[in-house]
Amino acid sequence: MIKKISHLGVAVKNLEEAREFYRSVLKLESSDPIIGGDGTLRVSMVKVGKVLIELIEPIGNDGVMAKFLEKRGEGFHHICYDVDDINAAILSLKESGMDVLGEPKPGAEGKSVFLHPRGTFGVLVELVEKEE
Ligand code: CO
Repeated sequence: MIKKISHLGVAVKNLEEAREFYRSVLKLESSDPIIGGDGTLRVSMVKVGKVLIELIEPIGNDGVMAKFLEKRGEGFHHICYDVDDINAAILSLKESGMDVLGEPKPGAEGKSVFLHPRGTFGVLVELVEKEE
């Protein structure tokens, strides 16, 4: 079902400051920001070998990411796994009693869906099926 880690999501207050840290201190390049989450966030991907770091900055104060930052502050947000077939994965996870949040939606890397952290030992999990 799961092939590999696709990316690690990190919540940041200021995307440009975070990208500058990755560029100048860690010497890692990041992609030009795109708008995601139905206009509630800006996202930039940092490539580290075969894994990406997804830097996520909220737009406005009302989105899910803005609320996360307010409550928890900057830092680790979610882990995203690559799956072959997202619908098959969702079916299997639901059979195991997992709380799948909504339907798969197009995201930064492909169709993705989240699992509630209450069933995953406290880690927000994203599954992505990449477009070939
Ligand atoms: Co993600």
